[in-house]
Amino acid sequence: MTERAQTAPGRRTLLGAAVLGTAALGLSGTANAAGPGGRSGRHGSYRDLPVPTVIGHRGASGYRPEHTLGSYQLALDMGAHIVEQDLVPTKDGHLVCRHENDITGTTDVADHPEFASRRTTKQVDGVSLTGWFTEDFTLAELKTLRAKERIPGTRQENTLYDGRWQIPTFEEVLRWADEQGRERGEPVWLYVETKHPSYFRGLGLGLEEPLARLLRRHGRHRADSPLILQSFEPSSVQRLAKLVSTPRVVLLSGPKERPWDFVEAGDPRTVADLVKPAGLTWIASFAQGIGPTLDLVVPKDAAGRLTTPTALVADAHARGLVLHPYTLRNENSFLPADFRRGTDPNAYGDAFGALRTYFEAGIDGIFSDNPDTALLAAADFAQD
Ligand code: G3P
Ligand code: CA
Repeated sequence: MTERAQTAPGRRTLLGAAVLGTAALGLSGTANAAGPGGRSGRHGSYRDLPVPTVIGHRGASGYRPEHTLGSYQLALDMGAHIVEQDLVPTKDGHLVCRHENDITGTTDVADHPEFASRRTTKQVDGVSLTGWFTEDFTLAELKTLRAKERIPGTRQENTLYDGRWQIPTFEEVLRWADEQGRERGEPVWLYVETKHPSYFRGLGLGLEEPLARLLRRHGRHRADSPLILQSFEPSSVQRLAKLVSTPRVVLLSGPKERPWDFVEAGDPRTVADLVKPAGLTWIASFAQGIGPTLDLVVPKDAAGRLTTPTALVADAHARGLVLHPYTLRNENSFLPADFRRGTDPNAYGDAFGALRTYFEAGIDGIFSDNPDTALLAAADFAQD
């Protein structure tokens, strides 16, 4: 097995895991004395994950409707090192897996006449949205809906699976991960994001406390638990740090943007401030990593082609932070201009070339809708 020196302090690289999956390696290369299932005991540090770590973004959302058990299962079966969940609450305080609280685009709610009157317009993080929202439904009501493909025009094949799965609760995902862990003989890693945490706290539906309770119940509240927490709002990450010891990542969007909790608190800092050395030092005081956009790592020029990497990798690593940028998708429409192939925006471009370029920049992992592709690219990178 090849090992590659990493700039991140304490990182251990297990290259080759990308192809074999963590099962073939014995997860993390550390003893798992408590046995599989993620319920208790040692599971190995996030620092021992294979590098580059491949994170199945919303599962394997390039192939299945996102945030369904079908999407999560496929990501795991493909060998993804971690499977991602985004969390929003129901009216009665349950955490469910959706990228947005507006479920218009990812469920069949519009086909349910009994819910027609729930359609409404809201301001969410300063943005006006019209649709149906999870916080207006009980869990029992949400469970009558079925998930569907978010971008059917781009991913027509995924519509084959429309209606097959419900919206999963996070508790169901934890149970699924525990069961899969027991079957596979190693823990299943999850990567869990709090969505719009300030907005929901304002509604009396704070996310962090119920999330922490579930993590404790499933033994994923420790520093060596097989789970990473993430949020675009640093205050959510700080709140979680007080509740559990699970590793934490601050997500970073466009450089001109401000996290919504900063907007509400009158904090003038932008993402551009947070990626400067002082900002990264501040993040490192309560988090173990950052999840920047890929553009913050390798910016694009005016034509959309990749340019020279920024200093973000080195600056973050110097502060002990891992970098897990988002999101690599195989379709031309999502790839940098220099890696597109042909003129069909929905056709696959040179995702391998793009992944190689990002890996060469020194990132520790990547969120991808196509974890199989990212795993092969990681294996290619390891062999060079
Ligand atoms: O959490 C990493 C990445 O998923 C952030 O973007 O909008 O897909 O949640 P988003
Ligand atoms: Ca996410």
